[in-house]
Amino acid sequence: MSGHGGPTEGPTGQRRPPSDADLSTLSREELVRLGLAADGVTIVRQEDPFPVPGTRAEKRTERKVARWFIIAALAGLGFLVAFLFWPWEYAPPGSPGSQHLIYQLYTPIIGLLLGVSVYAIGAGTIVYAKSLLPHETAVQERHTGSSAEVDRVTTTAILTDTGARSNIGRRSLIKRAAGAGAGVLGVGAGVLALGGLVRNPWQGGANAALWVTPWRSDNGEPVYLRYEEHDITLARPEDLAAGSIATVFPYKRSWSEEEAHKALRASDSPVMLIRLRPGQAAQVIQREGQVNFHYGDFYAYSKICTHLGCPASLYEAQTARLLCPCHQSQFDMLAYAKPIFGPATRALPQLPIDVDDEGYFYANGDFIEPVGPAFWERRS
Ligand code: FES
Repeated sequence: MSGHGGPTEGPTGQRRPPSDADLSTLSREELVRLGLAADGVTIVRQEDPFPVPGTRAEKRTERKVARWFIIAALAGLGFLVAFLFWPWEYAPPGSPGSQHLIYQLYTPIIGLLLGVSVYAIGAGTIVYAKSLLPHETAVQERHTGSSAEVDRVTTTAILTDTGARSNIGRRSLIKRAAGAGAGVLGVGAGVLALGGLVRNPWQGGANAALWVTPWRSDNGEPVYLRYEEHDITLARPEDLAAGSIATVFPYKRSWSEEEAHKALRASDSPVMLIRLRPGQAAQVIQREGQVNFHYGDFYAYSKICTHLGCPASLYEAQTARLLCPCHQSQFDMLAYAKPIFGPATRALPQLPIDVDDEGYFYANGDFIEPVGPAFWERRS
């Protein structure tokens, strides 16, 4: 072994790489030199921007880097808090106070905070690399072939050496700030993945939001079918011509304006009221348990597609087929709205309807199955 980490002389004078035993005796600096020489790398220039540790200029630069990581930590913390505690439940336009605005700000706020946190981590890393890492220019010749043991060992030494030369060990402020920034961001990523488990969608048991819709009436008061217009207009059989369709929403006479508005905007409210053409009623196939759900040739089905929840209301009156425009699922309205084409696999839930003494449609109860796409806990 030559003692400076380079290749050794063989018996015939040719240079040979050091043995594994030789390698184990070399210092890190020697391994670095050996690795650089073996890779044909020449360091043209290398200078530490702060050769004297602890100068005011160095501290100032450190604080500049740390500022970015602290911003990352604060933004990450803000993201966590907003993600978990910002009022995220849908508040329709016209809700009291600023509820609608607060609801609308939810996504921009968490996006902005997460973005700032990621940006600040990146900015801090770049400023650190540019201002505090040794400035080095190296030239390497290109070569082919697989790496030998000597290359692997020396590469490891070079990487370790780079870490040591970066002087990160003596920059505790940056280490702590970077640790806080990356740590909070990491926790944020975890919360992003697991946060849904914190909010329990089954709060309320049998009355949980996924089981019931605004069509349910707890006190026996009728829930009428109304049109979407601002002035509340209740649906009546004479409103619809044969072969036509109307979108209706739940309405109770005792509801305040705010309650009525909330029901109008609830995602599981929209219902299609369909009047079949003459002659089609005789072809209808009823679903078991739903034979009394219709009123004459009027049928009411949830408008929310059972595939991914789009509003499905492209009705072809001649064939009594309903098309969902999102992924082209088709539902046969003469056979309890069962899917006959496309990715949807479940029939649209049917709303039981009747007409009261005054001639207005009302719901004879809530849907008997959940509205919309599938979820793990649903039984149908
Ligand atoms: Fe209706 Fe996909 S959401 S077909």
